[in-house]
Amino acid sequence: MSGRPQLGAVREAFAPWEDPAVRPLVRFEGVGKSFGDTAAVRGVDLSIYEGEFFALLGPSGCGKTTLMRLLAGFETPDAGRVLLGDRDIGADPPHRRPVHMMFQAYALFPHLTVAQNIAFGLKRQGVPRAEIGPRVEEMLSLVKLEGLGRRRPDQLSGGQRQRVALARALAPRPRILLLDEPMAALDRKLREETQFELMAIQQRLNLTFMIVTHDQDEAMVVADRIAVMRAGEIVQVGRPTEVYEAPADRYVAGFIGDVNLFEGRVTAAGGGRVRLASDDGAFDAEGEAAVGDKAWLAVRPEKIAVHTEPPVGGDGNVIAGRIVDYGYLGDWTTYVVEASPGRTLRAARANATRLVDRPLGVGDPVWLTFAPSSAVVLTT
Ligand SMILES: Nc1ncnc2c1ncn2[C@@H]1O[C@H](COP(=O)(O)OP(=O)(O)OP(=O)(O)O)[C@@H](O)[C@H]1O
Ligand SMILES: [Mg+2]
Repeated sequence: MSGRPQLGAVREAFAPWEDPAVRPLVRFEGVGKSFGDTAAVRGVDLSIYEGEFFALLGPSGCGKTTLMRLLAGFETPDAGRVLLGDRDIGADPPHRRPVHMMFQAYALFPHLTVAQNIAFGLKRQGVPRAEIGPRVEEMLSLVKLEGLGRRRPDQLSGGQRQRVALARALAPRPRILLLDEPMAALDRKLREETQFELMAIQQRLNLTFMIVTHDQDEAMVVADRIAVMRAGEIVQVGRPTEVYEAPADRYVAGFIGDVNLFEGRVTAAGGGRVRLASDDGAFDAEGEAAVGDKAWLAVRPEKIAVHTEPPVGGDGNVIAGRIVDYGYLGDWTTYVVEASPGRTLRAARANATRLVDRPLGVGDPVWLTFAPSSAVVLTT
């Protein structure tokens, strides 16, 4: 996580969804869509706000593209309504909606130049000839491709082509831009750069973006809110921190980031604390549950501390084990610790010092601890 000069695009004050006086820009109300026997989207209620950067996350086939196509007008819902402001746009054809969808497998026209590609939607929209040239220049500068307007797509790098596709999508000034895996073809470094450019463009033009990505890190970085989908349904919507730190259930906890789950029975509860008896031991966590309930504690690897000596004192939860594997990631090392035969846990440690000889290795006995406030109590 180094060298990100553009960091600082986080908008803590942007939270229209918390203000009942703000009307959503887009509303899905009980929206369903099936293809034959496949319910691609089921009972989706979702509001998206003007100026929001909204991300859809979920495994392949869970309905992300279908949800976007319903908003863009390429599909009609079998159930429910899609509203723009207060208007049901169900009967509007795609070109009558102020929505542009950049497809999963975006394609530039290979025989047209970069400038002609960008101008394509403008011509179709009937923008006067005299305005097209300046608009194309503006878009080229927005995506930092000044001077490349005369090239053909095959004379560009993958990242440059991606930016042309973005410029082409933005040129007609849609109010809502739907981006289906816009960065799938880019390498990690370029992805990160493009992510921040995208955020900057979105904020500069005050557009509303909905993005689909398979990359959770990407969603966490760019999005104001994330929706996690499973089998056509939305399981949780929240800020990246909410979805990561307070997942609604085991599915979300496991889908976003790495997690250790402790399954057991609640043996004591009250005062915002829960005690859980599990096969790995008895642990305390902050949360709500009823005595006798089956429950799970979800603990992220970075919230588990690794000690080389048995810890003394403290109100933490302790698990003894042995390192069986580790992955060195440069900035972090993830340790795989066997707590009992066949039961492994993951603990991540920031490599805060430049130790060339690592202090911990395979076979070393360790003690893992986590604070009650670091565990999330889940009942489903
Ligand atoms: N035109 C179609 N005809 C039949 N089935 C479809 C059609 N479009 C989508 N489906 C099915 O609907 C479900 C949801 O598809 P969708 O494309 O929305 O998933 P997705 O979340 O975008 O997946 P991916 O991440 O792989 O792009 C899948 O089971 C898919 O096979
Ligand atoms: Mg898709």
